[in-house]
Amino acid sequence: MSKTLPLDKILQSQGFGTRKWCAELIEDGEVCVNGAVVTDSGARVATDGLQLTVYGEAWPYRERVYIALNKPSNYECSRKASHHPGVLKLLPEQFDRRDVQPVGRLDHDTTGLLLMSDDGPFIHRQSSPKHHVPKIYVATTHEPVTAALVEQLLKGVKLTDEPETLTAVSCRQLAEHEIEIVLAEGKYHQVKRMLVAAGNHCVSLRRAQIGLLKLDDLKLAVGEWCYLGDAELALLKPV
Ligand code: URA
Repeated sequence: MSKTLPLDKILQSQGFGTRKWCAELIEDGEVCVNGAVVTDSGARVATDGLQLTVYGEAWPYRERVYIALNKPSNYECSRKASHHPGVLKLLPEQFDRRDVQPVGRLDHDTTGLLLMSDDGPFIHRQSSPKHHVPKIYVATTHEPVTAALVEQLLKGVKLTDEPETLTAVSCRQLAEHEIEIVLAEGKYHQVKRMLVAAGNHCVSLRRAQIGLLKLDDLKLAVGEWCYLGDAELALLKPV
């Protein structure tokens, strides 16, 4: 829905700092609205299709952001990272200020597709076990992958602390030491623990796909991110 808001408030919502800081930025002539400098910090501006320029850099207005990151190893998914830097360090600082958060978690040594957003209901939906968006992982294993391993993961394995047997939605061997595992839920260290329970061991793990959204299609180098538009978000529906 089209709405107008004071310019300093708009800038604050985009993660440029406190409202006071944003007002000063505007009064200093650092902000263009649809190509023209505006120095009145309280000017009401329509948010629909709004093209901001801040410090000479284009910044299209987004009410909410939906981001895909090709997560590198050695980054933590928590907002309060302790042993490794947090994934927010890989994004422009505006995102941290507007409370962008990882959608679910990957272990610090897991790489691949990580969604991030500042849309609470979206994060909740995507992380909810009821939502059942399948996640596709590719694991490199210590021992060779065997037909028995694939069968075991499909039949289900029992993990300590988990009341129910956990099964892979699907599973297939990709190479001698590589297996693709599709999971419907996201329990703590699930892929690694399932592989151990089935008699193997994970050497490295990458998330290749969430729902129908494939990391390869996004053409992101490791550590790169992009915005997700409506077409990509539609691929994240439960299947
Ligand atoms: N399963 C794991 O073991 N680790 C992850 O990071 C994701 C799924």
